[in-house]
Amino acid sequence: MNLKKLVGEKAAEFIEEGMVVGLGTGSTAYYMVEALGRRVKKGLHITGVTTSAQTKIQAEALGIPLKSVDEVDQIDITIDGADEISSTYQGIKGGGGALLFEKIVARYSDTVIWIVDDSKLVKEIGDFPLPVEVIPYGSQQLLKLFKERGYRPAFRQTEDGERYLTDAGHYIIDLQMKKIADPHTLADWLDHQTGVVEHGLFLDCVNTVIVGSEKGVEIQNV
Ligand code: A5P
Repeated sequence: MNLKKLVGEKAAEFIEEGMVVGLGTGSTAYYMVEALGRRVKKGLHITGVTTSAQTKIQAEALGIPLKSVDEVDQIDITIDGADEISSTYQGIKGGGGALLFEKIVARYSDTVIWIVDDSKLVKEIGDFPLPVEVIPYGSQQLLKLFKERGYRPAFRQTEDGERYLTDAGHYIIDLQMKKIADPHTLADWLDHQTGVVEHGLFLDCVNTVIVGSEKGVEIQNV
């Protein structure tokens, strides 16, 4: 069973006529955007706000009307994937590199839905490398700082061995934390490091999680 497709298609059912919809990024959000595209072709009127260049290309190809985050008054609902979700619904996102735009769009959304297969549900987050988006200037110093704190940091690379660049032109440093016992304290510390633009800790921001497993779809309201 394709669990990403299952939850992506289920999530698209939450979108109603006239809504402004934040469109997430990644291989699970992909299926939600495809399903939404089919509904738009059948006559549904919505406005999409994309969270990455990748999703923008997909949404445009499907004929989904788009506006930028700065052109809309509010976003009714955002549907996005996640890399890890803890038992208290704290998440790591940014495996696909779109964390900054994803967090901005989530911040201005009335409702945030995450769509995942059950492999993403964990007790404590941290096994998945935590992405930290940094400006290139001074990034080597940040890497050193993270190393000193035992976070085992590494600049994200492309398949060609080049340094990965986000849609906003920043680098990503992935931290191998293994366990993040206190995500709020870590988020607070990262928020105060000069040169850090954003990080992949998405805390207290999700309203509903749609989980796919071999048993089917489960909707968890937070
Ligand atoms: C993109 O930067 C991410 O936050 C994705 O939403 C996340 O990595 C989940 O991606 P998949 O659905 O591809 O696992």
